[in-house]
Amino acid sequence: RMLKRRTDCHSDILRLDSPLLAIYESLIPPVEEKAKQKQLLALLDKLVCKEWPEARLYLYGSCENSFGVSKSDIDICVAFNEDIHDKSEILLKLADILQSDNLQNVQALTRARVPIVKLMDPLTGISCDICVNNVLAVVNTRLLRDYAKIDVRLWQLAFIVKHWAKSRGVNATYQGTLSSYAYVLMCIHFLQQRRPAILPCLQGMETTFSVTVDDVECAYFDKVENLCNFGSSNQETIAQLVWAFFNYWAYIHDYANSVISVRTGSLISKGEKDWTRRIDNDRHLICIEDPFVVSHDLGQVVDKFSIKVLRAEFERAADVMHYDPNPWITLFEPY
Ligand code: CTP
Ligand code: MG
Repeated sequence: RMLKRRTDCHSDILRLDSPLLAIYESLIPPVEEKAKQKQLLALLDKLVCKEWPEARLYLYGSCENSFGVSKSDIDICVAFNEDIHDKSEILLKLADILQSDNLQNVQALTRARVPIVKLMDPLTGISCDICVNNVLAVVNTRLLRDYAKIDVRLWQLAFIVKHWAKSRGVNATYQGTLSSYAYVLMCIHFLQQRRPAILPCLQGMETTFSVTVDDVECAYFDKVENLCNFGSSNQETIAQLVWAFFNYWAYIHDYANSVISVRTGSLISKGEKDWTRRIDNDRHLICIEDPFVVSHDLGQVVDKFSIKVLRAEFERAADVMHYDPNPWITLFEPY
């Protein structure tokens, strides 16, 4: 059977806009959900401050960076003014406090890479993870949220990519695939690279916001309300961008030599970062530089098996966008 390649025909790809936008819209959390999150945060704030009056609670992750789909878990950071050497002790104490306040499924995971307490609030039905002093995550959440305010196409693309990754089983770092955070950075970088660009490079502009966290200077231009027309000379639609995004990761990205870098708004070379060799378990088979902790490759979780799974999924998605009559269904078919 001869399949017609969709990109040959401009109007054919544009036909995909409205079904893709409908999916994006169905993923946006309803306002009541935001209110429930705030209610749970207020309850936890009260409990934490009773025990540690100087501590502050911050939301981070998808509930705060605006890339959260409906019914996501929420991520909370308890920040203390001083360094905490024994996070386990704090987390175990916190788990006790939460348990006695009737929160459910309370569990302290003190040996995790990022140690947390997990819980479920029976009043709102919301599950959440609480970590200690992970202020870099609070700051990178703010950066992502600021990018999202510049052009709605980032929102649309990231929702669709995250939904695709969850549906296809390639959003699990413990299985060697990528975190949601990594996928959003891939979307930001991709939109920085369009010509004309759809997103600017906020860390390459004048500094209007700056904090130093764990000796890392986090600085960028955060007056994003001045940038809401930034991408307007690029008229690409969501269908074209979803198509091009998967095509890029399937057939164009140079996995052997390139690092994607939101910090610089460009591609940089693996050699420049000394990410060319395997050291212990860090393999660098797909390289995504953290915008602030520049020595951190978010692709380091990917191993020689999962890179194949990941690339096969990018190719499948690109081919679905090329040829499938109903890509808005096939793209998200459970694996
Ligand atoms: N994070 C990080 N470094 C990583 C992974 C995550 O700093 N290697 C932080 C980021 O601040 C991110 C947050 O942890 O926003 C939550 O990560 P993740 O669960 O990947 O993303 P969410 O946006 O919460 O996505 P989901 O909707 O899938 O929960
Ligand atoms: Mg999350």
